[in-house]
Amino acid sequence: MSVKIAHSAASHGAPLQGEIAVPGDKSISHRALILGALSVGESTIHGLLEGADVLATAQALRAYGADIRRGSDAVWRVNGVGVGGLMTPSDILDLGNSGTGARLLLGLTAAHGITSIFTGDASLRQRPMERVITPLQQMGARFEAAPGGRLPITVIGTNRAMPIEYRLPVPSAQIKSAVLLAGLNAPGCTAVIEPRPSRDHTEHLLRHFGAEVTIGSDDDGARRISLTGRPELQPQTVAVPGDPSSAAFPIAAALLVPGSEITVTGVGLNPLRAALLDTLREMGARITERNRRQDQGEPIADLVVRAGPLRGIEVPGERAPAMIDEYPILAAVAAFASGATVMRGIGELRVKESDRISAMANGLGALGVQVEELEDGLIIQGHDGPAPAAKGVCINTEMDHRIAMSFLVYGLAAQGPVQVAGCEMIETSFPGFSELMAGLGAHIEAVS
Ligand code: S3P
Repeated sequence: MSVKIAHSAASHGAPLQGEIAVPGDKSISHRALILGALSVGESTIHGLLEGADVLATAQALRAYGADIRRGSDAVWRVNGVGVGGLMTPSDILDLGNSGTGARLLLGLTAAHGITSIFTGDASLRQRPMERVITPLQQMGARFEAAPGGRLPITVIGTNRAMPIEYRLPVPSAQIKSAVLLAGLNAPGCTAVIEPRPSRDHTEHLLRHFGAEVTIGSDDDGARRISLTGRPELQPQTVAVPGDPSSAAFPIAAALLVPGSEITVTGVGLNPLRAALLDTLREMGARITERNRRQDQGEPIADLVVRAGPLRGIEVPGERAPAMIDEYPILAAVAAFASGATVMRGIGELRVKESDRISAMANGLGALGVQVEELEDGLIIQGHDGPAPAAKGVCINTEMDHRIAMSFLVYGLAAQGPVQVAGCEMIETSFPGFSELMAGLGAHIEAVS
């Protein structure tokens, strides 16, 4: 159990050294629990992320009738109810800070003839849910949402869901997954067409649990995912790889703190997730892979990272879906590079746990970095070495775990210490972050 720190300060210290493993992949953890809950019999999950987001999904699935337990061996066991077998929850489902949990479960429950009420924390209640409501209404579910299509939402699901063919208006694995999970309990073929591919963990895991999923190409070259509804999902064993989005923080810290060399073991390197590494390497980062292997369709490797100078680049906009959660830490890293780093085509960042474009622009600007905030991007002028840390600034993380960790990493290499409020949000995705970083030699301290 890690210590909860609301307010932390990160400061420059000795080089980071050592070998660590980051917690399990958040996206895969949610999905493994959900598909386990839809299989009859016992699934086992190794390396599940025990962060607040995933625990909220587990709790909601229990309310739907699944039996979910953590063994003393840290292995999670899920006894599911089968596709179509969800029960009416006896209380409101609170998904906390988790957009993935909320959107995937809205999809799942839309195709069950039960009524559920979803809510979340103040950040989640601001996030757009229309994007999943629209296709799920087409499938036959009914919704009553707060103004703007936001949580709290009542879902009146249907046992007679219609399969649809849905073209994603934005590249989003959450929308894709919501439609596919609803399609599990619809007869016939549900198809999602994605003009720009998003992370494909749902497709991999659906197949792993025995569903029939085919991936093809539409006439215009878009990716087409087709699912045959009403499968009998079979319980499985799932090994969750280390989350590349969490690994991004110690990797960035090791690049920035002079003299550092660390190894992060067992990092998931799904090509639809790993584009931060391409970007960092283009900036001159020294990151090498060891022991590349394949586990249940997901590539994994150990990453060796050495500190060194970085240069600013223009990040290709088409890369955004494959590193969408990594822009905050990239923005922090860019402040230490030589020259400008230009990030465009990232308007989706405005509807994450916070408006991440504004949060990074405001925080970096307050610390003394020259930042230009664009409608759909950021331009950051790097300092070619330690970035400034204006005194007396306390970064507001806007209830966003990745904003908190990005500024703590920034503070590890900046000209002075950086104070960050709201660090308790880190628990949503990276429990034990401060302790793990401390094990590498990082100075992150609680401030009272
Ligand atoms: C996720 C998809 C992404 C990502 C989020 C996790 C998922 O969101 O930002 O942290 O597990 O499907 P979008 O699908 O909305 O882009």
